[in-house]
Amino acid sequence: MTPIQDIDLSAWQTLAEAVSQPDNPFRYLSLSSVDADGQAQARTLVLRRATQATRQLEFHTDIRSAKWQELAVNPRVTVLGYGHQSRLQLRLQGNAQRYDADSELASRVWHSLPAHTQSTYTGGPPGDARDISTDQPAESADNSAGKARFGVIIVQVTLLDWYQLQRGNNQRALLPYSITGELDAARWVNP
Ligand SMILES: Cc1cc2nc3c(=O)[nH]c(=O)nc-3n(C[C@H](O)[C@H](O)[C@H](O)COP(=O)(O)O)c2cc1C
Repeated sequence: MTPIQDIDLSAWQTLAEAVSQPDNPFRYLSLSSVDADGQAQARTLVLRRATQATRQLEFHTDIRSAKWQELAVNPRVTVLGYGHQSRLQLRLQGNAQRYDADSELASRVWHSLPAHTQSTYTGGPPGDARDISTDQPAESADNSAGKARFGVIIVQVTLLDWYQLQRGNNQRALLPYSITGELDAARWVNP
């Protein structure tokens, strides 16, 4: 059996690499929150950063989206990814911290985004009704209005549920992390 510390390192390396690999399935993760009615809400988000040392995942979003409010009320989230080729599932539980445009972090990240990404924040509020008859072609220049709508979500991961599909020998391990990111009482479990 692979040492559990190797699994830990490899899982976080997989996530970190995925950030810059458009074809990597772990670049597109499902982030689930719970809404005010207690309804689970899952959606796909692009993973922007994964930091093994701190056990943090970074995502970007529009602060007018439903998830932003949901996370204010209940920051507990689950992030899920599956690699078809590697047959690996990573399920990460944690707490979401929100950084809006007034924060140093969101401001710094915003200025590092390419113009075409900034332009995705210039439209109407996500989820609002759209009148297609009045849609205008995308304007090129001014993305500055988007800055106030841009938010960064940092998920502080507290548990990695690692699952390797392997014919006849599926493997699963639970890897809890302390608040400072140390691996704490990792263990194998039945898959
Ligand atoms: C491949 C893919 C990547 C996406 N990436 C993001 C993203 O990085 N940030 C984001 O806010 N929404 C992203 N979305 C849209 C979300 O999945 C979701 O529909 C939207 O954020 C509204 O979610 P909410 O109403 O639960 O807040 C992406 C959608 C797809 C299909």
